[in-house]
Amino acid sequence: MNQLTTPLFTGLKEHAAKKPTQFHIPGHKTGKGMDQEYREFLGDSALSIDLINIEPLDDLHHPHGMIRDAQELAAEAFGADYTFFSVQGTSGAIMTMIMSVCHPGDKIIVPRNVHKSITTAIIFSGAKPVFIHPELDEKLGISHGITPKAVQKACEAHPDAKGVLVINPTYFGITADLTHIVEIAHSYDIPVLVDEAHGVHIHFHDQLPLSAMQAGADLAATSVHKLGGSLTQSSVLNLREGLVSHGRVQSILSMLTTTSTSYILLASLDTARRHLAINGKALLDDCIKLATNARDRINSIPHLYCPGEEILGSDATYGYDPTKLIISVKNLGITGYDAEVWLRKQHNIEVELSDLYNLLCIITPGDTQVEVDKLIHALSTLAAESTPTHQEKDMTVKVPDIPVLALTPRDAFYASTERIPMKHAVGRISAEFVMVYPPGIPIFLPGEIITEDNIQYIKENMEAGLPVQGPQDDTLENIHVIKEQRAFQ
Ligand SMILES: Cc1ncc(COP(=O)(O)O)c(C=O)c1O
Repeated sequence: MNQLTTPLFTGLKEHAAKKPTQFHIPGHKTGKGMDQEYREFLGDSALSIDLINIEPLDDLHHPHGMIRDAQELAAEAFGADYTFFSVQGTSGAIMTMIMSVCHPGDKIIVPRNVHKSITTAIIFSGAKPVFIHPELDEKLGISHGITPKAVQKACEAHPDAKGVLVINPTYFGITADLTHIVEIAHSYDIPVLVDEAHGVHIHFHDQLPLSAMQAGADLAATSVHKLGGSLTQSSVLNLREGLVSHGRVQSILSMLTTTSTSYILLASLDTARRHLAINGKALLDDCIKLATNARDRINSIPHLYCPGEEILGSDATYGYDPTKLIISVKNLGITGYDAEVWLRKQHNIEVELSDLYNLLCIITPGDTQVEVDKLIHALSTLAAESTPTHQEKDMTVKVPDIPVLALTPRDAFYASTERIPMKHAVGRISAEFVMVYPPGIPIFLPGEIITEDNIQYIKENMEAGLPVQGPQDDTLENIHVIKEQRAFQ
């Protein structure tokens, strides 16, 4: 077995080639029993490996054959002690990480701007979040990661925490000094869990920031499907053993995973691993070149700005991934949303995301100069057609105070709630999630005490036209709170 081999994909193909007479699920039986149009669209090859965990094909819940072999090769490629395949996306891997280390009532140190799978895992596990504010970028209006200093402070105040969670890289490709964060957390025997949804590729090129496993983290939920060439929904969970046990992770992952694991997804993880391990460096060389050229050309378009290395140097911006193109459009006098819609309608271009001030475009091994030229041409036309604002747009990105947590998010989630006018909600415990995006930092989470200052913060943001998201009543006149639980009695 070596990185050129694909034990799972090869085993699956060999099984399918024998054309066994199937008296098992899936009932479409290699496509024969399904809708004709869909069958023809997908093709016989894909359908021949849409199988489930019959004995010859191993079992993701108790890997002992071809899945175990494929996971071992993945662990070697990712520099992990163990790699677990996930068919529940990175969300499933993130929930597994948190539930593997937190029991009900345990503390976990997390940045405030986390993905919803993290809040969900905090609710499921009954953990108590200790929030740290991420660093804000006033120029771009986005949040970065957390700083080693903030982690040090949190660990000092909460040495009994069961985990420090880090988002690394951020969606925008910015990384913190993860090695330093790991050293700090480990000096308290606290494991470091990394949301590496946007960083599968960084492990495979030395010009890219260090991956979670390279930095010594204990667990990393890594989206192979996002930037590593596997099919949507397939991810891995990497483990460095020591502070976290392999057996515990395996059993939690199994509890959160369907028993009907898709072999099409699993095989795509096996082959994506081979592609990354064998060709990753060369492919990423090309991507970095393509993206660097795109960045330079975007920066030569009047009123557009695409940050590069100059973004580095703050406590939270230790490294960056040049294959992410953050395109600030604020000086064109339009929002990122406007630009996204314009690109779709006028040029049939779809971007990764947009917000009030920016677009995010990603360059991957799936791109060539042709796509980049198309983007540059479209952006040049957009800039030429816009009415730019000549002065730098004032963008004071403030963060709300982190409210006091009166109940664990799980207790708040299961409590009886009532809807009351926002103006009467001071002192009550929020049952809802309220957030302004950007910068994507929640104002209230379930379980937190509503304060006058934070209601004022919501009002200011709404008046400034910033999207306040989350509550059922999107006018924000009303909010759901925990029923008859006065926080200050
Ligand atoms: C930062 C971050 N973490 C986790 C996830 C969840 O990944 P998945 O969609 O694979 O469940 C995402 C998805 O966009 C994300 O952006």
